[in-house]
Amino acid sequence: MENILIVDDEKGILDLLTVVFQKQGFKVFTAMNAEKAFTLINEEDIDLVLTDIKLPQKSGMDILTYTVKTKPNLPVVLMTAYGTINQAVKALKAGATDYIVKPFDIEELQIIVKKGLERRSLQAENIRLKKELYKKNEFENIVGKSKKIQDVFDLSKKIADTDSTVLISGESGTGKEMVARAIHYLSRRRDKPFVSLNCGALPENLLESELFGHVKGAFTGAVINKKGMFEVADKGSLMLDEIGEMSPLTQVKVLRALQEKSIRKVGGTQEIPVDVRIISVTNQNLKEMIKDGSFREDLFYRLNVISLKIPPLRERTEDIPLLVNHFLKKYCLKMDRKMKRITPEIMKIFEAYFWPGNIRELENMIERIVAIEERETITRDCLPHELLGMQSDPDKAHEISPGFDLNKTLDEISRQYVKEALDRAKNNLKQTSDILGINYRSLRYLIDKFDLKLRSEKSRQQGTR
Ligand SMILES: Nc1ncnc2c1ncn2[C@@H]1O[C@H](COP(=O)(O)OP(=O)(O)OP(=O)(O)O)[C@@H](O)[C@H]1O
Ligand SMILES: [Mg+2]
Repeated sequence: MENILIVDDEKGILDLLTVVFQKQGFKVFTAMNAEKAFTLINEEDIDLVLTDIKLPQKSGMDILTYTVKTKPNLPVVLMTAYGTINQAVKALKAGATDYIVKPFDIEELQIIVKKGLERRSLQAENIRLKKELYKKNEFENIVGKSKKIQDVFDLSKKIADTDSTVLISGESGTGKEMVARAIHYLSRRRDKPFVSLNCGALPENLLESELFGHVKGAFTGAVINKKGMFEVADKGSLMLDEIGEMSPLTQVKVLRALQEKSIRKVGGTQEIPVDVRIISVTNQNLKEMIKDGSFREDLFYRLNVISLKIPPLRERTEDIPLLVNHFLKKYCLKMDRKMKRITPEIMKIFEAYFWPGNIRELENMIERIVAIEERETITRDCLPHELLGMQSDPDKAHEISPGFDLNKTLDEISRQYVKEALDRAKNNLKQTSDILGINYRSLRYLIDKFDLKLRSEKSRQQGTR
C-alpha cells in the first residue's frame, strides 16, 4: 500500500480527495497547514505529497522546499488556482514533480499522481542500479581471491551500509586505506565526502585544529575561521589514519565528539552538530596500547564496533600471482610499455618472498621493474636482491635495522624452511615433518599460518593425476 499526504486548508477538498484515494487503495494522510505536513513527512513513510500552493501562513512552496531539502526523492504535486499558474511554473523549476490547476477533473489528478509515483520507483531503481555499479567498481580494482582476503571483502560489503564505526588494522601496505575507501563508496554516504586524516603526521595542537577547526584568533596564526575535518566530512565518512598515534588529550576530544555527535572548534564555544561515520585505521596493536595506558579503552570500544583485520601478504600467498599481474598490467599501461611476461620460475620467487612491506612493496617493485627492464620477459637479473633470498647477503643477516621485528623475522625464516621442506618432500606431509624435525600437528599449524596449505594440496593433486 502506498502512502499519500494531502495538504489543503479547505476541509471539503481534503475529505473528497481522501475518499477518492482511499478507494484507489492508498493510505491517506492529511494536513491543513505546512507545519503538520512537515511532521508527517518526517514521521511517516510518505510516497507522494499532494499540496495546495495557497495555505495559511507557510505555503505549498515551503512544503516543496522542505521536501526537496530533506527527502529529495519524494515527489511533490502542487494544486494551484487558475490565478497562480506563474507560481506553478516556478515550483516545477524548484523541483516539483507536476502540478494541476483547480478546479480539476478527478481522473486527471489520478493520472498525475500515478505518473509521479512511477517516476519515483524509476528513480529508486536507478539508485539501486547505481549502487550495484559502485559495488562492482569499488571492489573491481582490489585484487585477491584467497579466503582470508575474501572474508575481509565480504564483511566490508555487509557492514558498509550501516553507520557503525569500523576499525581497520593490519601491517603497513596491506591495503587498509583501499578497504576504507571501498566501504565509504559502498555506503549510502557515497555521494558525500570521504576525508582521510593522518593522526601521526601532526603535533597535538595542529591535529586538533585539523579535526575540529578553529575560530579566528584562537591562537597565533589563526587568522580566519576554519572548518575541521569533522565538519568537512559531514554526512560522509572520516578516516582517522594511524589512530594509535593520537595523543591522550586528543583521544578524549574525539571520544566526546563521537558521544555527543557534535564538535566545538578550537577557541569556540558553539556546539556544531556533525554526522560522520568514523573509519579508523592502525598498524599498531591497540589492545596492547590499552594495557600500557597509551590508548583509551573507552575510545577503543567506540571505534571498534566492527573490526576488520587485513592479513599480511605472506599469509595469502595465493594472491601474489594475481597482484603481480595486476600491477604489471597497470604499470605497462601507464608507462606505455608492451605487456611483460613472467615465467613460472620467477613467479615462484615472488611467492617465496616474505613481503615485509606487503602490497605496497610489491607494487613499488613491479613499477621499478617495468621502468627499468627493457626486455619483454622478466628475468632473474632484474629482480632486486632482497627477492633473491637472504643468502644473497649473509653479512647482513644479523643486522638490526630500524623497524626490526624479531617475530616477523623468525616467521620469515620458518616459512622459508617449511616451504623448502615441502618442495623436497613433494608435499608429503609426513616426510616434510620428518625433514623439519617437528610433529605433524606443528607442521599443519605452520602451513595454515603461512597459507601454504591450499597450494601444496593443489599441487599434490596435480602431481598424482
Ligand atoms: N588487494 C589489493 N589489490 C590491489 N591493490 C592493492 C590491494 N591492496 C593494496 N593495494 C595497493 O597497495 C598500496 C597500499 O595500499 P594502502 O595504501 O591501502 O595500504 P595501507 O594499509 O593503508 O598502507 P600504510 O599502512 O602504509 O598506510 C596502494 O597503492 C593500493 O592501491
Ligand atoms: Mg594507509
